[in-house]
Parts: sequence; C-alpha cells; structure tokens
Amino acid sequence: MSEVSLFESNLLSPEVQSQLPAGYTLRALRSNDYERGFLDVLTVLTEVGGHTKEEFTDHTITITEDAKDQVVAVGTILVERKFVHKNGLVGHIEDIAVNSNQQGKKLGLRIIQALKFIGAQRGCYKVILDCSEKNVPFYEKCGFKQKEVEMAWYV
Ligand code: ACO
Repeated sequence: MSEVSLFESNLLSPEVQSQLPAGYTLRALRSNDYERGFLDVLTVLTEVGGHTKEEFTDHTITITEDAKDQVVAVGTILVERKFVHKNGLVGHIEDIAVNSNQQGKKLGLRIIQALKFIGAQRGCYKVILDCSEKNVPFYEKCGFKQKEVEMAWYV
C-alpha cells in the first residue's frame, strides 16, 4: 500500500532541501514514519506517549441576533493532538470578534466560555491563545492568566 503524506510537497522549501547534507531529504510526515523512529526523535525533547494518528480539527462558533438573523459574535477553537505530554490535547482559541455595536454585552465572554466548554468536552488539558496587551483584562475576566511569551515570524 502506498504511503500517505501529511501534506503536498509543494509546501516544502527547495532552499532548505538544497542546504541539507548529501543523503538527507526534506519531506512531509508520512503514514509509516512511526516505524521510522519519528517518536524516538521526540524523546530527546520530552516524554512521548503512544500517539497513533494526527488529529487537527477545529470548531467555529457564532452568536446570532435572532430578530435580525445576523451573526454578531464569533470564535474558533482548534484542537491539537500533541506528540508529547502523553498525546494530550491542547485547545487554541483563535479569531474572537464581537460586532462593534454589540460590544460590552458579555457576548465576548460567552463566546470564550463556549469555546472553553468545547475544549473541555474534547478532553483538552489546557486552552491557550495570543492577544494584544489591551485585551489582557478581558481574557483575565474570562479566566485566563498570562503565561510564556508570544513569538511571531512573518513571511
Ligand atoms: N479592557 C478591560 N476590560 C474589558 C475589555 C478591555 N479591553 N473588554 C472587555 N472587558 C471586560 C468587560 O468590561 C466585562 O467586564 P465585567 O464582567 O466586569 O463587566 C468583561 O470583560 C466581559 O466583556 P464582554 O462584554 O464579554 O466583552 P465584549 O463582548 O465587548 O468582547 C472583545 C470583548 C471580544 C475583545 C471585543 O471587544 C472585540 O471583538 N474586540 C475587537 C476584536 C478583538 O480584539 N478580538 C480579540 C482578538 S484576540 C483572539 O482572537 C484570540
């Protein structure tokens, strides 16, 4: 049976490949890489569990104003299956927004609560997000605390 790659090879940098020592190949994770020591490599980083497959799923929710049949608040949680931490699940909250004329009605808080619920239902051991300084008080009111530092690289 032919092997399945996690993604198409056109996402692989030719420049990086050209900089590898002879005999090394840059490629996407493949279905049989578990037998090729993929998890063994990760043990140099931290404890590794018995991961069997990748799970990258997301859940986008909305709050609508029924009388107007309009969406007024949205948010997404992506559930990431870790290879480390005993294959634990981590929820990533993304793209929280409340219409400017609807802010201050606790809709943002409800969206976050609903996403935290999904994260808990899915079995996440933590839910994390990145935000601007000005939104820190909002997320603190939603039960989050500051941890670590966000890093970014823009193409
Ligand atoms: N500073 C201090 N407190 C705040 C702030 C703020 N910027 N925003 C909300 N709060 C407080 C409210 O006063 C309220 O406190 P209370 O319980 O004591 O009354 C509590 O937080 C809950 O506020 P909500 O009414 O639920 O907030 P709202 O519905 O306005 O949504 C949100 C907040 C999502 C930040 C909204 O203002 C918004 O859409 N902003 C623009 C987009 C944005 O910045 N999105 C977040 C990006 S980060 C990400 O997506 C992970």
